[in-house]
Amino acid sequence: MSYPYFVVKQLLLILVVACVLAEQNNPQTVEWSSKSYGPDGPWQAVTVSIGSPPQTVDLLPGGSWMSNVLAPTVCANGVACDVAKLAGFYNPLTSSTTFDIGQTGDISNASMANTVGALPSLYGSANWMFDNISIPLLNGVSGNAYNALILDFDMLVISAANEKLPDGTTYPVQIGKLGLGAPNANQTWLHFPPNPNWNGTLLPSALFEQGLAPSDSYGMHIGSAAMGIPGSLNIGGFDQSRALEPVSSQAYIIDHLPIDLLDIGIGVAEGASPFNFTSQSGLLAEGNSSMGVATSVFVEAPVPYIYLPQSTCDAITKYLPVTFQEKYGLYFWNTEDPDYKRIISSPSFLSFTFRLSGSLSQNMTINVPFSLLNLTLTAPIISTPTQYLPLQPGQGPNGAYELGRAFLQAAFIGVNWRSAIGSENGVWFLAQAPGPNTPSENPATVIGAEDATIVGSTNTWKDSWHGVWTVFESSTTGGAATPTSSTSPSPGPHKSGLSTGAIVGIVVGVLALALIIVLGGVFIYKRSHAAKERSPEASGMDNHNDMSGEPGPRETYKSSGFGPSELETGNIPRKPIEMAG
Ligand SMILES: *[C@@H]1O[C@H](CO)[C@@H](O)[C@H](O)[C@H]1NC(C)=O
Ligand SMILES: *[C@@H]1O[C@H](CO)[C@@H](O)[C@H](O)[C@H]1NC(C)=O
Ligand SMILES: *[C@@H]1O[C@H](CO)[C@@H](O)[C@H](O)[C@H]1NC(C)=O
Ligand SMILES: *[C@@H]1O[C@H](CO)[C@@H](O)[C@H](O)[C@H]1NC(C)=O
Ligand SMILES: *[C@@H]1O[C@H](CO)[C@@H](O)[C@H](O)[C@H]1NC(C)=O
Ligand SMILES: *[C@@H]1O[C@H](CO)[C@@H](O)[C@H](O)[C@H]1NC(C)=O
Ligand SMILES: *[C@@H]1O[C@H](CO)[C@@H](O)[C@H](O)[C@H]1NC(C)=O
Ligand SMILES: *[C@@H]1O[C@H](CO)[C@@H](O)[C@H](O)[C@H]1NC(C)=O
Repeated sequence: MSYPYFVVKQLLLILVVACVLAEQNNPQTVEWSSKSYGPDGPWQAVTVSIGSPPQTVDLLPGGSWMSNVLAPTVCANGVACDVAKLAGFYNPLTSSTTFDIGQTGDISNASMANTVGALPSLYGSANWMFDNISIPLLNGVSGNAYNALILDFDMLVISAANEKLPDGTTYPVQIGKLGLGAPNANQTWLHFPPNPNWNGTLLPSALFEQGLAPSDSYGMHIGSAAMGIPGSLNIGGFDQSRALEPVSSQAYIIDHLPIDLLDIGIGVAEGASPFNFTSQSGLLAEGNSSMGVATSVFVEAPVPYIYLPQSTCDAITKYLPVTFQEKYGLYFWNTEDPDYKRIISSPSFLSFTFRLSGSLSQNMTINVPFSLLNLTLTAPIISTPTQYLPLQPGQGPNGAYELGRAFLQAAFIGVNWRSAIGSENGVWFLAQAPGPNTPSENPATVIGAEDATIVGSTNTWKDSWHGVWTVFESSTTGGAATPTSSTSPSPGPHKSGLSTGAIVGIVVGVLALALIIVLGGVFIYKRSHAAKERSPEASGMDNHNDMSGEPGPRETYKSSGFGPSELETGNIPRKPIEMAG
């Protein structure tokens, strides 16, 4: 009788498949460059190698669709290009594997704001090009380093472009962006037969299609070079310690991540306030009767500042030692004012309250410490490095109120581009990100292919800044001055010491035991009822037994028509393998 042998073979197969899945479908962790970039940062970047022979370029990660890379011609005419030279160029003329097609069209002496996926603040000329790229990654769980190769990578190669200051002064573009996916798996143009579609490839979908990442998704916290918060970027997953609960999940639109902003306030995390109040709320709508209950904003990694209505900027800055500079459309910190140092080094923050996951009644708040809003303008924007508040009155380059990189220093964002499998609809995630006191090497957590929500860490945000900011003695209550917590952040409840592989092993083991018990019972039952049972399923099982020496047990498992239905009645998950995801 070969039936027990058949059962053992199925169990072995399940074990093997589960282990293979556990090895491959881990989040892939992107490595960050050791350099950071201005002229309005410092911003942290990631390194990619483009073309043959490889040209190494640092790009700021964020935004959707094609990556934007700078050709050396952006620095023609001896213009100020220190940042661009440091970050590196892509010269298609010296790559033997570059490719372009006429059907993409190009951008010629025009604003790039209307081109989906282009850096919106630029005015200039660019072409779509495709080339192989190599990107250094770590397997998010095993930690093994390797270079992922992506063919036909979708790029907008900028040959000449300027940024424009509010007073009309221009300066050349300084650094490109690494696009982090799109609603579509590829950017596709009509081309020639026999292959009527030309596909430019994108980072998360390419790794997903190569079987390296478990989903077409990413999770990112850009961190802060100035405050020593390393960047975190995972494809197909996220670092749970970078997303503090609650995590808001909402729909994206073709090129943007919109969310309803409900309010802005000022607060102090611990100790006495550096202001003459302990907290302020209502700043978003203050002095503006035409603001509704909620204001839709875009969360935008490709733009630098926080762009809000003039009335809101007025309400925020009346409490701050800053001076508006019309030439730049920004506020400079009055660094001689004693309040500047007090506020920047204190546990005080600007708070942004958002609608939580589209709810009518629930909200979530992201606190951006003022210490992260002490950024530096450098050349070519200004000749002397100058501390500024990254807040600009009016709409941003995408024609909306926008929360750019300055905000994202304190916020986690992620996108699962296709959480509703089979369609081009997904969700994006927003959560409070921690401060400098955060684990640097934390195994990444999977974002499953169909996940529409993710679970963040229950670490306390205040603890993640512990020891970094200066807590002031409270004049009224002596106790409030001492830090309320001296413990280092404890890992969230969803992090155990077990690797994905170990968890898969345990799950598979338990399921295997259950299978043996159920199938063993079935086996005994079948034998005692053998004379009565003459159903098609039973004869199918007989056929299977006859060819049990053949390869392809997976197929015969399905075709037996027996095991799975019995498993269902036994209340055991029908597809235990999928629990690996
Ligand atoms: C780069 O792309 C070309 C096709 O454009 C391909 O033939 C070549 O093998 C690729 N190079 C590498 C290193 O894979
Ligand atoms: C853009 O305009 C400048 C000056 O008007 C001109 O010199 C240059 O050739 C134009 N570039 C393109 C790509 O049309
Ligand atoms: C994306 O483009 C690549 C390269 O052309 C192709 O292999 C892949 O099948 C495309 N994916 C989808 C979903 O169309
Ligand atoms: C591009 O993707 C489409 C599917 O979206 C596919 O039909 C086509 O063959 C792909 N083209 C190439 C060159 O791989
Ligand atoms: C008041 O709010 C409206 C709606 O957001 C905006 O269009 C307008 O510019 C604001 N007014 C001022 C003075 O900022
Ligand atoms: C609080 O300080 C602001 C300036 O920072 C000042 O205008 C205001 O009058 C002060 N309020 C009180 C109650 O002292
Ligand atoms: C503001 O940032 C600059 C540049 O990073 C730094 O040198 C300075 O100490 C910061 N100011 C305060 C008060 O922390
Ligand atoms: C956020 O939710 C809390 C608790 O429900 C509520 O008290 C608060 O008013 C809400 N804030 C905003 C800005 O809606």
